[in-house]
Amino acid sequence: MSDSTDGLPATVLIRGGTVVDRDGERRADVLIESGRVAAVDGDLTAPRGATVLEAGGCVVAPGLVDLHTHLRQPGREESETVESGARAASLGGFTAVVAMPNTEPALDSAEAVRHVLQLGAGVSAEVAVAAAITVGRAGERLAPMAELAGLGVRLFTDDGAGVQSAGLMRRAFEYATDLGVILAQHCEDSSLAAAGAMHEGAWSSRLGIPGMPSAAEEVMVARDIALARTTGGRIHFLHLSTAGSVELVGRAKREGLAVTAEAAPHHFSLTDGCVAGYDPLFKVNPPLRPADDVAAVKAGLADGTIDAIATDHAPHAPELKDLPFDQAPPGMLGLETALALAITELDLPLATVLGLLSWQPAAIAGLDPASGGEHGGPVAAGSAANLCVIDPTATWTVDLSRLASRSRNSPYGGRTLTGQVRHTLFRGEPVVVDGEARR
Ligand code: DOR
Repeated sequence: MSDSTDGLPATVLIRGGTVVDRDGERRADVLIESGRVAAVDGDLTAPRGATVLEAGGCVVAPGLVDLHTHLRQPGREESETVESGARAASLGGFTAVVAMPNTEPALDSAEAVRHVLQLGAGVSAEVAVAAAITVGRAGERLAPMAELAGLGVRLFTDDGAGVQSAGLMRRAFEYATDLGVILAQHCEDSSLAAAGAMHEGAWSSRLGIPGMPSAAEEVMVARDIALARTTGGRIHFLHLSTAGSVELVGRAKREGLAVTAEAAPHHFSLTDGCVAGYDPLFKVNPPLRPADDVAAVKAGLADGTIDAIATDHAPHAPELKDLPFDQAPPGMLGLETALALAITELDLPLATVLGLLSWQPAAIAGLDPASGGEHGGPVAAGSAANLCVIDPTATWTVDLSRLASRSRNSPYGGRTLTGQVRHTLFRGEPVVVDGEARR
């Protein structure tokens, strides 16, 4: 894609699409100049030299925002890098991702956070960093949260593990409230989850695989709701997977507590029965749950109890993932299939799906215009041109060999899905054109 002579991305006209954002839906062309939306109107003429992106039959929306991406850098570059993960994000329609801190070393220091922010500076999507709540994610001492917040960190989590000590978590809530940042919890009580490798239930008994009970998640959700009530603090629940968790969050919201939650595509599209073949591709934390839980997650997404769809994109290189089920690391890819899974599996209007994948997570991450960010805002003159163009009715078959991720651990290979990303623009630059990454 050609750049203009001043180094800013070329003028781009997105032609023939329907704009959908939090303000509603309208037929409009979108003109982009110098990285920002210059005009949104029914019928715009392409200025001389402009790149024209066809969007007939497509929806033009604010770029998607992933609250939960594992980029694996530093430490596991064989599985993913900031650059390859950002490319996968762009192909999935995302213009911003929040990088999780369970890298090696963990993102628990100013040096580590600065390093990832620098790596993210030149890639095809915005990379925000979630830092660890505790040093080394070990759950023993708080990380230097004030210093990290000073670098722009808005979300703190020990993701991959929950903070086991309620006393330490209470202190984290107090610091976070003072700093105006958000805690995000991976809800898993390690004494209950123990050596479990899948959901504890009929399937784990039949397969002889040690299980993790739903209660391992739910006791921590309940505990952190109690701590939010005690401290007046804010909490975001990562990848909720059980009916009981959804129920607890719903009640906390009705009480007026500052609680938000996300769910991952695999928790609304797969069940624990998928583990029957012992394929480690279906191993994930929290584990795949029975159909009743899947139904509760879907209902929570439909009624607003769950605020966002987050991918939990968790790449593992083949040599790391291809182990017997009990030894394989948990996690599956998510960025390149999330939107299509949401369109295919959720019986929701597209605008609701886009809210769950764009403006709602942008607000939670502090990446929306109201928080000084550039994602999820209305598609209107003056706004940053972080956009995706989606064909909501196109069907495609997931081909693992074509994924941009460095890893291949998606359980959706060969699945035909509805809803395809056609173009993605990051700061006005078409980084995906006709489904192909441009960088
Ligand atoms: O399945 C998972 N994989 N769940 C997590 O919480 C962490 C993630 C990873 O980092 O691989």
